[in-house]
Amino acid sequence: MQQRKNISIPLLFWSLCSSVLVVPVQSAGVPLDLDNHDSIKSAARRVAYDLVTFYTGNRTGDVPGNLPAPYYWWEAGAFFGALVNYWAFTGDATYNAITVQALEHQAGVKGDFMPVNQTYTEGNDDQSFWAMSAMMAAERNFPNPITSNLGWLGMVQGVFNQQAHRWDNMSCSGGLRWQIYPWNAGYGYKNTISNGGFFDIAARLARYTGNVTYAEWADKIWDWSEGVGLITPDFQIFDGTTQETNCTSYDRTRWSYTGGIWLHGAAVMYNYTSSSSTTSPSQSSAKWKPRLDGLLLAANHFYQNDSIGAQVMHEPPCEHQQRCNTDQLSFKAYLSRWLADVIQLAPHTYYDITAKVRSTAKAAARQCQGGETGTYCGHRWSSGKYDGTIGVGQQMGVLEVLHGLLATHISGPLTASTGGTSEGNTSAGTAPDETEIQEILFSHVTTGDRAGAAVLTVVFVGMLFSAVYTMIS
Ligand SMILES: *[C@@H]1O[C@H](CO)[C@@H](O)[C@H](O)[C@H]1NC(C)=O
Ligand SMILES: *[C@@H]1O[C@H](CO)[C@@H](O)[C@H](O)[C@H]1NC(C)=O
Ligand SMILES: *[C@@H]1O[C@H](CO)[C@@H](O)[C@H](O)[C@H]1NC(C)=O
Ligand SMILES: *[C@@H]1O[C@H](CO)[C@@H](O)[C@H](O)[C@H]1NC(C)=O
Ligand SMILES: *[C@@H]1O[C@H](CO)[C@@H](O)[C@H](O)[C@H]1NC(C)=O
Ligand SMILES: *[C@@H]1O[C@H](CO)[C@@H](O)[C@H](O)[C@H]1NC(C)=O
Ligand SMILES: *[C@@H]1O[C@H](CO)[C@@H](O)[C@H](O)[C@H]1NC(C)=O
Ligand SMILES: *[C@@H]1O[C@H](CO)[C@@H](O)[C@H](O)[C@H]1NC(C)=O
Repeated sequence: MQQRKNISIPLLFWSLCSSVLVVPVQSAGVPLDLDNHDSIKSAARRVAYDLVTFYTGNRTGDVPGNLPAPYYWWEAGAFFGALVNYWAFTGDATYNAITVQALEHQAGVKGDFMPVNQTYTEGNDDQSFWAMSAMMAAERNFPNPITSNLGWLGMVQGVFNQQAHRWDNMSCSGGLRWQIYPWNAGYGYKNTISNGGFFDIAARLARYTGNVTYAEWADKIWDWSEGVGLITPDFQIFDGTTQETNCTSYDRTRWSYTGGIWLHGAAVMYNYTSSSSTTSPSQSSAKWKPRLDGLLLAANHFYQNDSIGAQVMHEPPCEHQQRCNTDQLSFKAYLSRWLADVIQLAPHTYYDITAKVRSTAKAAARQCQGGETGTYCGHRWSSGKYDGTIGVGQQMGVLEVLHGLLATHISGPLTASTGGTSEGNTSAGTAPDETEIQEILFSHVTTGDRAGAAVLTVVFVGMLFSAVYTMIS
């Protein structure tokens, strides 16, 4: 947080003069010419370099794929997605090796992004963020995994199979819960980012593989989310709802990334239904185009005028008050990432999106003036000045905006029929069995607590399996 200082008039006078004199270097931020691809790439290179300084996972003794505190595991998953995109949009392969290593390591032994160190506290949305980065790797023909027996595509299919298995029609007639396991707070919460992540994965698998089963799931997830009111008739996207009220009460907060994830998935479905010859009658672009266009219009909520009247992306619930937490500081990165894809998947959105991406990029690059290098970025892009903060979220946000400017310069996300070569496995990702769940629980208690934990295990495992049993029967 910035400290307000009392500056005397003479000092203010001199600092104004000196800032005028040194303007070109001191306050220009990262240099950016919006109409010059080399300039865009070198700005992105600068911002990517500073971003990767936060990563310690490739140091001797550290764990590949982990970001240090305060960053949660899910954000690391998003971080490597930003590096996949950075390579795809700019062609700079500098960070490919650490990215392959990280994605593979955190995919875990089963390749399902449920690694032993995370499983106990992992949520569906956490798993999705890693899976979406693997999906980006598949769609962009990113270098394949080295040691895993699954390709990027197979990993995403594994996550899809698990989430489909977790679809919960015991309460609210459907939906995915936020948490995977009942011992985590928030198990009763059915949130939009978890359902949106599942929706996006299903849509992308449908488009990539052409398998209609995935498209039917995308439909089902949309219909449920709209049906309970998480997606309003004017395409506002609320944060979530809870089983305690049978999903009739909401947290109505509108975050840029929840708006973005449905927009992206709808664009994927629009693209898939426009190009595929094998879709069922319930699947048509006539259904998905109005949804896509409505979501794009609703996303105007995430822009505000900057000091010169240009539209710049912002995070309405917390940015203005400078109260965004570590997670929230990264949300604009995902909306920016998804907008670049939307331009490629639905070219009719080009004019609408590009104007705002350009003004956002200009404002965002201008305020990258912090940290050791003098180029680290802050979060309040529209303010016209650096806000004094640095972090993975801020850095990743500006990177996604910058390389997104090249969206019309490179080809769009691939599919298996347009050159995508990632290997799949439709039966990957079996859910953990009873023994594994006991191991997860036991590895998280001290020896002294084992007796108590044993009782808890019996209770939780009982709950889980009776739920599954009831679902099946
Ligand atoms: C980790 O990766 C970064 C970025 O590629 C690189 O600069 C650094 O040297 C690597 N560290 C080790 C120990 O390999
Ligand atoms: C799990 O975490 C511990 C402690 O940080 C680390 O030593 C170990 O390598 C991690 N395991 C995996 C598979 O990442
Ligand atoms: C409940 O969910 C399962 C698994 O997705 C599905 O097969 C079943 O048809 C659903 N039941 C109802 C009543 O919707
Ligand atoms: C609970 O909500 C679902 C979905 O909106 C609805 O279909 C169902 O009838 C509701 N059940 C009760 C008991 O109100
Ligand atoms: C934002 O600026 C544009 C001109 O660039 C103006 O037309 C519009 O009314 C402004 N909107 C708000 C909310 O101030
Ligand atoms: C679907 O996406 C591809 C790849 O970006 C693009 O070439 C194609 O024009 C899109 N199809 C439609 C109908 O917009
Ligand atoms: C399509 O995907 C479903 C769900 O994973 C799978 O069961 C089915 O075998 C797949 N079909 C084909 C033709 O691959
Ligand atoms: C696909 O995954 C299943 C389940 O993990 C496994 O049994 C099977 O051997 C895999 N198939 C291939 C071709 O790797």
